[in-house]
Amino acid sequence: MDKRPIGVFDSGLGGLSAVKAIIKYLPEEDIIYFGDTGRVPYGSRSEKIIETYAREDIKFLEKFGCKLIMAACGTVSSVAHNAISQVKEPFVGVVYPACAAAVKATRNNKIGVMGTSATINSGSYVKRIGELKPEAEVFGVSCPLLVSLVENDWIDSDNYIAKEIIKRYIEPLLEQGVDTIILGCTHFPHLAPIIGEIAGDNVTLIDTGYEAVMKAKEILEDNSLANDALHKGTAKYYISDKTQNFSEIANTLLGVDISDSTEFVDINS
Ligand code: DGL
Repeated sequence: MDKRPIGVFDSGLGGLSAVKAIIKYLPEEDIIYFGDTGRVPYGSRSEKIIETYAREDIKFLEKFGCKLIMAACGTVSSVAHNAISQVKEPFVGVVYPACAAAVKATRNNKIGVMGTSATINSGSYVKRIGELKPEAEVFGVSCPLLVSLVENDWIDSDNYIAKEIIKRYIEPLLEQGVDTIILGCTHFPHLAPIIGEIAGDNVTLIDTGYEAVMKAKEILEDNSLANDALHKGTAKYYISDKTQNFSEIANTLLGVDISDSTEFVDINS
């Protein structure tokens, strides 16, 4: 039994797709979440900057004595290899678990990947799927505008602008006949209802946040790191800018009121 918290970070609200899965599937675990709202988005930045941000985010979470660190961020998981290689605790990113789920799900070996520009340019998902299933064809599409849609709470299924943008992004994937789409940025599962509606029932969507949490669960269990099953997990949220709407949007995404557990922090002080 290990009472230490799990540390989760992302550039903003995206990583809450992982937090949602932790609350559901690892309800006994305490969570420290860091959303880098002062520097979002990460996905349009250079490798050097993403490495720096990732290193600082990880250092901040390490101060809490976390037993596991999760980069609930496709961009960091794809690009920040140096920062990740220096993590001392067990570490989970989103790329490997999502690719493992996608190669299991596909029936026609045609997999689409939606991600930020940095993620798609890194080729991280293509590379990993190639290792797991060389016969699979992978089609990637950069979807930079989707991060802003989520950060601005434009995620409701009636939002026709969101629908139109998503349609433009995923049509090329659907034209290639993909039967599986990896939501390769953790912001995108928040748009899954719209993406699913456009992609249709024959396309399986892979939720990176959920898959990363399933991997974390396995690591905790295999290494006797799980918390007492009777403990009711808590969550504390830190953000690097007092964005007006973080708690508000987070409340909608998580279905719980987190206003009292959200705190502004300067991680470099
Ligand atoms: N949610 C993150 C990802 O998975 C970051 C998106 C961004 O900040 O551009 O890539």
